[in-house]
Amino acid sequence: MLRIAVFVSGRGSNLKAILVHPELTNLIKVVAVFSDKTECGAFEIAKSFGIETKVVGKGENKIAPVDLLDVLKNYNLDLIVLAGYLKLIPTDVVEYFENRIINIHPALLPSFGGKGMYGMNVHNAVFHSSAKVSGATVHFVNTEYDRGKIIAQKCVDISDVKSAEEIAERVLKIEHQLLPEVIKAFAQDKIKIEGNRVVIKS
Ligand code: GRF
Repeated sequence: MLRIAVFVSGRGSNLKAILVHPELTNLIKVVAVFSDKTECGAFEIAKSFGIETKVVGKGENKIAPVDLLDVLKNYNLDLIVLAGYLKLIPTDVVEYFENRIINIHPALLPSFGGKGMYGMNVHNAVFHSSAKVSGATVHFVNTEYDRGKIIAQKCVDISDVKSAEEIAERVLKIEHQLLPEVIKAFAQDKIKIEGNRVVIKS
């Protein structure tokens, strides 16, 4: 079983997509859910699945970012999944878990990524660019926002959309397919780094 920690900041629909995916049940175990928010939809989902929740930040009953690595080490993790987590992961954590932290981004990187590009900011930028396709990207995490190597992408036609909200809706549907697919491939040890490229073996 692949031991996973999921980092979230919001409603948690990607977390749920992982937890209910029938092909992941026998492959993974989500051992903890971390958030920078004390309360969020994702925490409610985690609790309903009996999963431990932890808050990262400054203050009482929170894990200070400088202590995060030690806490994570105690979980014996194979993979960390960022599913809508809005904060940068501390450098020591990124280095320790090199190529074992993945993030889902709701656009086709390397476009429409970087600091401040999250949630509706992304879909508004895509809408106003008049792009005809958007999609979702799962990538390895490094110390810059949305800049790690791309593992997998899925596209969606947005040539007929009338609003950024419509883009968000279409992209979210494919996020819920793509993230579990990548986690499954990771659990089956099919994700390989070959030179400068990340490949998923069939
Ligand atoms: C998703 O669009 C994800 O790609 C982005 O933040 C959103 C989180 O949604 N990074 P949810 O909390 O998983 O519903």
